[in-house]
Amino acid sequence: MESLKFLAVAIFVLSNYDFVSADNKVVCYYDSSSNTRPSQGKFDIQFLDHALQFCSHLIYGYAGIDEKTLKLKSLNEALDLTNHNFKKVTELKKRFPGVKILLSVGGGKDGQYDEDRKVEKYLKLLESSDNRFAFINSVDSFLKIYGFDGLDLGWQFPETKPKVIRGKISGWFNSLKKKVVGEDDVDEKASEHKEEFTALVRDLKNKFKHEGLSLTLSVLPNVNSTIYYDPTISQYLDLIIVKAFNFYTPERNPKEADFPAPLFPVFDRKVEENADYQVRYWTEHGTPKNKVILGIPTFARTWKMTEDSGLTGVPPLKIEGPGTGGPYTQTPGLLSHPEVCNKLTNIEIKHKLVKTGDPTGRHGVYAYRTVDNNNPEGIWIAFEDGDSAGSKASYARERGLGGIAIDDLTLDDFRGLCTGNKYPILRAARLKL
Ligand SMILES: *[C@@H]1O[C@H](CO)[C@@H](O)[C@H](O)[C@H]1NC(C)=O
Repeated sequence: MESLKFLAVAIFVLSNYDFVSADNKVVCYYDSSSNTRPSQGKFDIQFLDHALQFCSHLIYGYAGIDEKTLKLKSLNEALDLTNHNFKKVTELKKRFPGVKILLSVGGGKDGQYDEDRKVEKYLKLLESSDNRFAFINSVDSFLKIYGFDGLDLGWQFPETKPKVIRGKISGWFNSLKKKVVGEDDVDEKASEHKEEFTALVRDLKNKFKHEGLSLTLSVLPNVNSTIYYDPTISQYLDLIIVKAFNFYTPERNPKEADFPAPLFPVFDRKVEENADYQVRYWTEHGTPKNKVILGIPTFARTWKMTEDSGLTGVPPLKIEGPGTGGPYTQTPGLLSHPEVCNKLTNIEIKHKLVKTGDPTGRHGVYAYRTVDNNNPEGIWIAFEDGDSAGSKASYARERGLGGIAIDDLTLDDFRGLCTGNKYPILRAARLKL
């Protein structure tokens, strides 16, 4: 009897152990600028507690590069330093010793992209070995002072130009056919920048390996990996996090809406515009699969439907600019998960949205409201829900990837406003891993 009990306990412990197997990483991004969102959108670090039991890594967003010295710097000294947010976050290791806490540089949040879609300092830094050396030293002392376990490189390489959807899908696109499709080369020194970035990553790794620090790469949306990433850099990196979303956004594509984060190719779109392609760029060029992490967004993208958008809601759609911002995020074209959830469960008929599922888990889910006499304001919302995030996590598991990344915690339903469950996207995705 006793031994049976022991066996039962052993099986229970083992099966739970398997569930949090060291091979399944759950990388959680935390955008610290979320502490200024109004009312229920405000994210204080106490909300990290509930999430961290599910995360293997926490990535603190975001540090930046000083324009003059080209060294690492805080982008928000009042919060990070004066208010000790760096220290408060790294001290969470005392209660969550299994979680690695990294600082991310860039992430698309450092400085303005110019009209060529560049942030000059990210290229300038690469161009001399003195600059790289100074940057590496500044990173090293930064991480030590504040107690981070490593650095995440959210390197802000130039973005590709937004594409105009074309082809047979619908007639109106034909009038746009003559416009630029695909990218013009905005960076003549691209191949040098690629080599210099490889050198930066190699030298960072050489510095870090003696100190037990981690080094990860966040592949930002709309950066052409072929142009900027030599896949052999994976030997210097602990993880490569592929942010496979924002293929279409209301900022980049104000006149047309489409699936922003499909898992697999969508018919008649560019072959690169899906997560599977972005992941395979690495795995098919020699990167160990267990280093590749699939990034899953928690937020939604929204566009305004007009009378010209048609009635079916099926993308691509002709659209007029970003949708109205939500009460917590107050950003046109963007909604947090609780803001989407609120719209979907609104019982007032005149505001009701039609929700479209994605049983195959290939393209993503969306909801919309067409314009008519009762609805002067139409909207098209592409979002991630528990099911779609779960499909992506299943993909990561089935392909033997290292795991998933949730981008980010502060736009998931961290208060449990919608159904009472906190972090529904994070939890649904983790369950399928
Ligand atoms: C990325 O660059 C390569 C090489 O220049 C090009 O063939 C490819 O079409 C580009 N991909 C995207 C998504 O624009």
